[in-house]
Amino acid sequence: MQKYDIHKMYQQSVQCVEAEIDFVEATYKAIRGNEARYLREDFSGTGQTAGEWVARNANNKAWAVDLDAEVLAWGKKHVRAKLKNRENLRYIKADVRDSGIKNMDIVLAMNFSYFLFMQRDKMIEYFKSVRSSLEETGIFFLDAFGGYEAAKELTEERECDGFTYIWEQASFNPITSEMQCYIHFKTDDGVEINQAFSYYWRLWTLPELQELLYQAGFQQVDVYWEGTDEKTGEGDGNFQASQVGTADAGWVCYIVALP
Ligand SMILES: C[S@@+](CC[C@H](N)C(=O)[O-])C[C@H]1O[C@@H](n2cnc3c(N)ncnc32)[C@H](O)[C@@H]1O
Repeated sequence: MQKYDIHKMYQQSVQCVEAEIDFVEATYKAIRGNEARYLREDFSGTGQTAGEWVARNANNKAWAVDLDAEVLAWGKKHVRAKLKNRENLRYIKADVRDSGIKNMDIVLAMNFSYFLFMQRDKMIEYFKSVRSSLEETGIFFLDAFGGYEAAKELTEERECDGFTYIWEQASFNPITSEMQCYIHFKTDDGVEINQAFSYYWRLWTLPELQELLYQAGFQQVDVYWEGTDEKTGEGDGNFQASQVGTADAGWVCYIVALP
């Protein structure tokens, strides 16, 4: 049996579903004044975020949508099986543009996965399908990344518990903004897992994404920018609706769109 599991490593190194759901829960409540219950996680992979949603409240229900049967099977075994109210999390093998999961309070497109749609018409088609899947009072949450190092060919390493996480921006084409990124892992006992995850996507800018969301019919689109910790100069984990961001080397933000 393999000593490592790339989905566990991804979970430990990339995702912080608790913080993500803290933001989504609090922002929904601040905007709508009540609590959301039905959440769809698009491009869910193993459905960690949907699992966190269901774990928070016995009345919460979530649908995790992904095209890849292998990641969904992993999620059923390792995420859903650990939940007390596991019947409230469903895994759906479908294209996110056509999953049939509607009447949602919240739809999530996180980990930049929607950057995989590289033409404007494909992106608008996806955004329109999300809008029609939301309740009138629903909210669409996306994340985005950028900054002047986002378009650079580079490799960054970070130490995690028992392994090194390696993010590689292998190529970037300024003519199309398309880029090839990889996640590699190296275990502390020397096992190299090259290209554990591979993403070929377009580095969309925030003005483009806001324009496309409005074009798809969303009525209000806000960018939530992270505050800065004065002592460290790093992000403080507190995201607020903002008109002006900071010209950082690398940033991550949320986009919040109301139908
Ligand atoms: C960046 S990963 C997301 C990983 C995820 N957050 C996780 O926890 O594993 C992108 C995922 O999107 C899925 N995907 C790509 N295109 C899709 C589409 N059109 N519809 C549904 N899923 C799609 C891939 O199968 C992959 O699992």
